Amino acid sequence: MSQTGIVIEAARAKINLALHVTGQRADGYHLLDSLVTFADFGDELALRPSAQDRFEITGRFAETLSADADNLVTRARDGLRALAEELGYETCPVDITLTKSLPLSSGIGGGSADAAATLRGLMRLWKLDVPRDRLAELCLSLGADVPMCLASSPLIARGIGEDIEPLATLPSFFILLVNPLKPVSTPQIFRLLTSKTNGPVHPFDPAQADWLDYLGCLRNDLQEPAQRLLADIGECLQQLEESGAEVCRMSGSGATCFGLYRDEMTLERAALTLEQAKPQWYVRAGRTLEGNAP
Ligand code: C5P
Repeated sequence: MSQTGIVIEAARAKINLALHVTGQRADGYHLLDSLVTFADFGDELALRPSAQDRFEITGRFAETLSADADNLVTRARDGLRALAEELGYETCPVDITLTKSLPLSSGIGGGSADAAATLRGLMRLWKLDVPRDRLAELCLSLGADVPMCLASSPLIARGIGEDIEPLATLPSFFILLVNPLKPVSTPQIFRLLTSKTNGPVHPFDPAQADWLDYLGCLRNDLQEPAQRLLADIGECLQQLEESGAEVCRMSGSGATCFGLYRDEMTLERAALTLEQAKPQWYVRAGRTLEGNAP
């Protein structure tokens, strides 16, 4: 915490480098095997003690989101406060500002990352030590991607996303995200899946391949149904491929697609070309986090 009592938390974009659908639970949720990393950019949360609870949204995509009781930030705050009070902690009112730089409903976990960053920030602000199982339960009640966004470092996610294994060996990649700025509905994409029992992600073997070659052999099982629903996704993937990306894939349930590049110069050239060719799209270049990053 700074001297002024402000806590800043990054809500990094979540990237599903691979997402294999391996089954379905009786309640309808799908079982996944997903290789996940995080970008070095995303939304940002600023939290500070206040006389009363306040929540404000600023930034490029602020207008597309309302700061009401349904917002994942508000729900995370209220959920954590209830849990803290049950555990005997005192909590003060908070003023939260969300800088919304990631597009909404776009497969890169924006809302989930915001919820997770709210939890991390409030645990620092309120000085909470919450038992892991209670925190995990709260995260999952907010959304299947919230547990992985709480970790916010490279990992393998299984179950419906709650079974998390850190992936310390994952290197950093040069990444370009593109989104046609048309939201897609996650439940609808899952409903359009034709096969729900696909093979898991096979482990990486450094003797056999480098990371980019390995990732190229994996897939996102939600990509084909998403492309059927929104043809722009095919166009995003084609543009990425033509821009020199080694791996082109959709993240989560879309519509954001990513390209991974061997070097920074190709990435920068690709970003410039796409920004000029598609000014109406979201285009963002950066790096992904390394597995052993602090
Ligand atoms: O948990 P979250 O709100 O992010 O999920 C949105 C919807 O996506 C769920 O209601 C469900 O229809 C679908 N989903 C799924 N299997 C998952 C995650 C999400 O079927 N593992």
